[in-house]
Amino acid sequence: MQTFSFNTTPEAIQSLAKHIIESAKACIEEKGSFNLVLTGGNSPKMLYNILADQYKNEINWEVVYFFIGDERHVPSNHKDYNGLMARENLLNPLNIKEENIFLVNTSLTPQEAAEDYYARILKHFNQATINFDFTLLGMGADAHTASIFPGTTICKINPNESIEAVFVEKLNSWRISFNATLINQSKEIAFLVFGKDKLDAFTSVQSHPNQLEYPASLIQGNVFWYTNFN
Ligand code: 6PG
Repeated sequence: MQTFSFNTTPEAIQSLAKHIIESAKACIEEKGSFNLVLTGGNSPKMLYNILADQYKNEINWEVVYFFIGDERHVPSNHKDYNGLMARENLLNPLNIKEENIFLVNTSLTPQEAAEDYYARILKHFNQATINFDFTLLGMGADAHTASIFPGTTICKINPNESIEAVFVEKLNSWRISFNATLINQSKEIAFLVFGKDKLDAFTSVQSHPNQLEYPASLIQGNVFWYTNFN
């Protein structure tokens, strides 16, 4: 686990963008493709804009495949749909082909959407273990990550990879989310965490590895933290 602390969010984002591009180049060189999991929320928007603008000509985006680590169970044209934010800030500006984009079909019920999403991703990985190359994650002030919120059904030690429908009481809404095991199978994992309100959660996560009370602590492996708590 490596933590990179910055004085400003733009500096953190620029550094993370560079990291992603370097990893993408290495993966494309090695195996001809790059499987990138996007995160929702507000923190990644600037990152997506930089990737789409500053790095538009840096790599062959035609061999990059995009996924979303969690989704709100709302229509795909709803402002809260993470896939829409990803399209507007990254996928559309880069003219990514539809066949390279894997988003959640929220016209299905939450459970059906989770099953459908898992089946489509598994097919992309030829029915083998799903090992993404790079997974982006945010974190809330309650230490949730993706839609792994404290006290929810997905917040448990589960040795198997899964994509689950999860009802989040505090939000009174359904989510579809990767579980921690699926995320941890990623070659690289990078959190982008910005804001004073998240410092306590960050400190708790660092000092309580693999504690259900702090869901982001369930994320283990080749993990990088890009932070600004000013
Ligand atoms: C989501 C995200 C969620 C997000 C955190 C941080 O669907 O909202 O996946 O886990 O990353 O809530 O959100 P901000 O970046 O907006 O603070």
